[in-house]
Amino acid sequence: MVAAVRIDQVAKRFGAIQALAGIDLEIGQGEFFGLLGPNGAGKTTLISALAGLVRLDAGRIEAMGHDVVTDYRKARRSLGVVPQELVFDPFFTVRETLQIQAGYFGIGKSTAREAWIDEILDNLDLRSRAGANMRTLSGGMKRRVLVAQALVHRPPVIVLDEPTAGVDVELRRTLWQFIRRLNRDGHTILLTTHYLDEAESLCGRIAMLKAGRVVALDTTANLLRRFSAHALRLRLADGPLPAELARRGEDKDGYWTLPLDRYEDVEAVLAQLRSAGRRIEDLEIGKPDLEDVFIRVMRGPSPAAEPRLPQSGGGGGR
Ligand SMILES: Nc1ncnc2c1ncn2[C@@H]1O[C@H](COP(=O)(O)OP(=O)(O)O)[C@@H](O)[C@H]1O
Ligand SMILES: [Mg+2]
Repeated sequence: MVAAVRIDQVAKRFGAIQALAGIDLEIGQGEFFGLLGPNGAGKTTLISALAGLVRLDAGRIEAMGHDVVTDYRKARRSLGVVPQELVFDPFFTVRETLQIQAGYFGIGKSTAREAWIDEILDNLDLRSRAGANMRTLSGGMKRRVLVAQALVHRPPVIVLDEPTAGVDVELRRTLWQFIRRLNRDGHTILLTTHYLDEAESLCGRIAMLKAGRVVALDTTANLLRRFSAHALRLRLADGPLPAELARRGEDKDGYWTLPLDRYEDVEAVLAQLRSAGRRIEDLEIGKPDLEDVFIRVMRGPSPAAEPRLPQSGGGGGR
């Protein structure tokens, strides 16, 4: 089976900035794939290159087996891209915007087309605003239209670049419900997000990007397993954490997180706190989450030193 997305030795420089520094990735059909990384890691550049909007310095990209440069039209038709930035023609209504987009992909007016547009509008809670002018919509509503626009030609591969940045909980819920359904129906999903809890619950496989390189690539389950078994989270009633513990831990929102290799290690931590005369206000033993993994990976050794991880390919969500 041809890969949904094949990224091969891709490099791109903007002036002095090496935005993409040799990226290899293969995303199988039906995967729900997460592309994570801090701001400036190169996520949007990679997605823009996939959409044929950025010219690469080196390497090549295929969407559903079509080269995004030499076979642009077929490649572009395979993709539904929800861009990070909101860009619209303010003079059209929501429905017109979707009809125009469909026309752009050569899908003429038909009952089937209008039925699909209605279904998209329903699933994104946009039906009541179908006749509204784009310029009258709130940011969240515009974001929904961006998603709808990407889906109008029923692309096998759906690419979402931070679709939930700054949007309300309700839209996040509606959107993920719909995208999950599309994934179950066989669509490949490529998602970038800053919400690591979203990525953790949605993505079957994740690549982490740092300074234009892939620094981690594995199934979500393996990433969670590989980086620290469990962690002790605690908040002290007073005073700082003894230095010896603080060296091993991380401080966030008033809580310290200390990695635990074994549950028995809790005993030693408690003993150290007792002998330092510290009182514990709150304590829990947590499972590692993707945020822990992300922080660890981003801090970790340089990409060159990172062992190459096997690509497991294929498979759907978790
Ligand atoms: N058109 C551009 N011109 C100059 N620099 C750019 C351009 N697009 C992106 N960059 C730079 O490339 C790097 C990667 O950016 P981007 O792909 O937007 O990262 P991300 O989406 O991961 O936040 C950043 O340093 C950014 O400033
Ligand atoms: Mg971006």
